[in-house]
Amino acid sequence: MRMTIQAVDRIYSSYSHVYDWGFGFFFRPRVKELIRRLDIKPGERVLELGFGTGCSLAYYPPGVSVYGVDICRAMLAEAEIKRAQRPDLDVHLLEMDATRLAFEDGMFDYVIGAFMCTVVEDPYRLIAEMLRTCKPNGKLALVNHFMSERRPIAWIERLINPLTKRVGWRTDLRVRDLVENTPIRVLETSSLFKIDMFTFVFFDRKQPRATSFPPALPCHMDHMDVGRAADAALAGRGLATAGQG
Ligand SMILES: C[S@@+](CC[C@H](N)C(=O)[O-])C[C@H]1O[C@@H](n2cnc3c(N)ncnc32)[C@H](O)[C@@H]1O
Repeated sequence: MRMTIQAVDRIYSSYSHVYDWGFGFFFRPRVKELIRRLDIKPGERVLELGFGTGCSLAYYPPGVSVYGVDICRAMLAEAEIKRAQRPDLDVHLLEMDATRLAFEDGMFDYVIGAFMCTVVEDPYRLIAEMLRTCKPNGKLALVNHFMSERRPIAWIERLINPLTKRVGWRTDLRVRDLVENTPIRVLETSSLFKIDMFTFVFFDRKQPRATSFPPALPCHMDHMDVGRAADAALAGRGLATAGQG
């Protein structure tokens, strides 16, 4: 089964009234911890993808701007009720696909997603959009179930994947898949409890590797100077050119 936007919308529309009751027990403490760990300050701007019924609104510190994006109108309607209870936040609820965001590059101090990267059809495109919309020095984080690296557990997770997709999420995505298929660098993975099926992933953009060439030479030098400057540059890095003692 493909997890198209239409299929996901249909599934989560059917959950919207009972979602908090059914999933809140598992998700709320982890969303609370994620937001606590980010240490968001008043006046800062957060993009939260797959906002759902807006459980997270209870945990943002006052004065924060929260942009909650979801494709499911029925879930956002539940979030709308919670928004009314937080007049101290600047909340924007937007019906939008998290893998095709209508925001400019680098608009947000934080871009986060809770329990949603295994719900979107293309998690790699989701990560690309997270990287694009986050400020260069902003913070990026996910909390989610990821497939285990332990073979017997992964085997079960792969086995049940066709079934879980029918009820709204996949169980065969590993953190490693995100690292191998997107330009991210994982800064930390952790969990709320020692044994926990949900993982926090804090990450940033992978920096391009520094080249191993000596520093560029000033262009006004003549040939002799270039030779001497190159020797000096290499010697300074503990290297020597051919012909040197
Ligand atoms: C499991 S719920 C998580 C909701 C919320 N983050 C929480 O912690 O309770 C997943 C949410 O992701 C939303 N979603 C799925 N695909 C999406 C997409 N492509 N763009 C935006 N939201 C999406 C669903 O509609 C649903 O509300």
